[in-house]
Amino acid sequence: MSFDKTILITGGAGFIGSHLVRLMVNKYPNYRIVNLDKLTYAGNLENLSDIESNDNYSFVKGDIVDEQFIDTLFADYQFDGVIHLAAESHVDRSIEDPMSFIKTNIVGTVNLLNAARKYWTDFSGKRFYHVSTDEVYGSLGETGFFVETTAYDPRSPYSSSKASSDHLVRAYHHTYGLPIVISNCSNNYGPNQFPEKLLPLFIHNIKNEKPLPVYGDGKYTRDWLWVIDHAIAIDLIYEKGRDGETYNIGGNNEWKNIDLINSLCKVMDELLDRPAGSSEQLITYVKDRPGHDRRYAIDASKLMNELGWEPTVFAEEGLRKTAEWYLSNSEWLENVTSGAYQKYYTKQYGE
Ligand code: NAD
Ligand code: DAU
Repeated sequence: MSFDKTILITGGAGFIGSHLVRLMVNKYPNYRIVNLDKLTYAGNLENLSDIESNDNYSFVKGDIVDEQFIDTLFADYQFDGVIHLAAESHVDRSIEDPMSFIKTNIVGTVNLLNAARKYWTDFSGKRFYHVSTDEVYGSLGETGFFVETTAYDPRSPYSSSKASSDHLVRAYHHTYGLPIVISNCSNNYGPNQFPEKLLPLFIHNIKNEKPLPVYGDGKYTRDWLWVIDHAIAIDLIYEKGRDGETYNIGGNNEWKNIDLINSLCKVMDELLDRPAGSSEQLITYVKDRPGHDRRYAIDASKLMNELGWEPTVFAEEGLRKTAEWYLSNSEWLENVTSGAYQKYYTKQYGE
């Protein structure tokens, strides 16, 4: 079969990557989509079982930190574009083990940049897209928003590793002319997220009537974006974003953690047919995350005005859709919480 383009998506077996792979495989039968993933604890091919036999989809298991492997992959596939999502993504894990974040998020990104630079002798029609986070901008006070020109001020090993990779991607653009684009997005939620992150963890715990560990005073604020809205934005930016630019992506959907958790508890009581207030009784305030960023909020007006993107799912509707997905995919949830999960959970939260 011949294709118009071959696109490498890294981290396509993870949470956001799997939604992006599905979207692009279905939308572009004329593109060959190659999903490269190491299948760490966060990668799960079950997320892609519905498209795994499509003719325009291939999966390759491998590590972006392995320079030789990346070089050979580029030689074999002659990619026209790269959409790079593979990363260590959980802040709490970065506090315990920064080095794996340095390796994957920084060294892995440089390996991909070097391979693109080596094999793209002609930059025409090529694009290297780095998917990044709003956490690179640091922490906001009660008011204000991150814009694309906000100075970087990363404060955790995770956000520092992402900031570093953003800088390197921009450096390859300025120094070597590599065609790049970057997006910085807020907290995603929805199907297929590993239950170490707030919402799937709390849904899993409510289901099993286990404590809900709220860090600190619970008044930390995040902007929540429906994961498929993020995938749609990435596709749009990949196709239409301007070379060398950065686009912020956000849901215009700010919640203090404790308000989000209380709303989730109400939805869960209803869906599980339990007496009102039962899930809320599981809320337990625990020791704060070290260096916990107080508030993130995104101004996505550049993306909205330039490319016409807008979020489609908000507030309680998103929470309900998320809770419903995990409850009706209990096998998925059981599979990902078997094995090493229990060891992580006990280390992080105790029994
Ligand atoms: P995730 O942890 O669910 O998935 C990461 C994927 O990368 C997994 O499939 C994993 O197996 C793979 N991976 C990890 N190390 C690898 C390596 N060395 N080589 C190859 N593959 C490797 O993460 P996610 O939440 O889907 O995030 C995807 C990207 O989006 C990340 O770059 C993250 O920084 C960024 N991001 C995430 C959010 C969010 O809310 N989750 C928000 C903004 C930006
Ligand atoms: O902002 C984008 C970022 O959002 C992404 O770049 C990261 O990859 C992603 O993990 C996410 O980071 P957060 O640290 O904001 O997400 P997390 O789900 O870990 O936590 C959300 C909030 O909930 C945060 O304020 C910490 C709090 N929290 C989290 C957990 C896991 C708790 O109170 N208790 C918990 O057990």
